[in-house]
Amino acid sequence: MNTNLTDQAVVVVTGASAGIGQGAAIEIAARGAGVVATYHSHPEGAEETVAIIRANGGRAVALPLDIGRSETFPAFREQLAVALASEWQTAGIRGLVNNAGFGGGLSFEEMTEEAFDRYFRVLLRGPYFLTQALLPLLSDGGSIVNVSSSSVRPGDTTEGYSGYAAMKAGLTTATRYLAKELAGRGIRVTSIAPGPTRTRLGGDAFEKYPEIIDGLAAKTALGRIGEPSDIGKVIAFLVSDDAAWITGEDIQVSGGYAL
Ligand SMILES: NC(=O)c1ccc[n+]([C@@H]2O[C@H](COP(=O)([O-])OP(=O)(O)OC[C@H]3O[C@@H](n4cnc5c(N)ncnc54)[C@H](OP(=O)(O)O)[C@@H]3O)[C@@H](O)[C@H]2O)c1
Repeated sequence: MNTNLTDQAVVVVTGASAGIGQGAAIEIAARGAGVVATYHSHPEGAEETVAIIRANGGRAVALPLDIGRSETFPAFREQLAVALASEWQTAGIRGLVNNAGFGGGLSFEEMTEEAFDRYFRVLLRGPYFLTQALLPLLSDGGSIVNVSSSSVRPGDTTEGYSGYAAMKAGLTTATRYLAKELAGRGIRVTSIAPGPTRTRLGGDAFEKYPEIIDGLAAKTALGRIGEPSDIGKVIAFLVSDDAAWITGEDIQVSGGYAL
């Protein structure tokens, strides 16, 4: 399988300072593309991502972005344009990976409008309007990958995730519609649904409560939880031209979680 990306291609990966975003950034860069790695509260995480990519011979820069604040997107686009011009002498991007997000559950009875709005702003409104803001920079034939969640599917209905999963379901559905609307420019739009993956999600839940890992692994057909590189490789494939005939799909990447 040839998953090379051309060396002019630059891909923006949101939330690349940790976890799945870091894994995706590293795998995309390993296939020859430049990476813009965004971070929110952990610049050192994004610097680590950039350092790993550079140590492997790739090219990357880090930029700050709060995906929950769409009013900052025009300024982010300007910063991105400056970075593209100075690092790659290009004006456009080949791909956008909408990955940034947070997890953690809140029971229906405990849910507040403020908490619900935060899920909405970060997990749905943010990626939706960031995509709109960056569309003028995205080249024809480019690719958008939205990171959704296995929680959208009926087999993975964990109590306390109604707010989180509702937003991810919205993102998955919007993916299909965007795929249709952007097809005229040859832009492909896909979503992936990771199952439980060893990241910092949920306030470092996997590190704080390692005992939950065995239970999740037992519910996973392939017998373990996912690693960021498991998910990152699939994102890198979807961004690349090897996935040129895939659009509008939601792809479960979970080792067979809750089959
Ligand atoms: N891990 C799983 O089991 C799992 C399963 C299904 C789906 N997902 C999804 O995968 C995506 C990545 O999560 P992860 O598991 O890799 O978690 P993670 O290790 O906590 O990483 C989250 C990333 O998102 C960034 N981020 C968080 N809030 C942000 C905001 N308001 N604006 C911009 N960036 C923000 C973080 O940046 P800073 O650290 O710099 O603040 C970090 O880079 C999320 O969309 C999550 O819902 C994860």
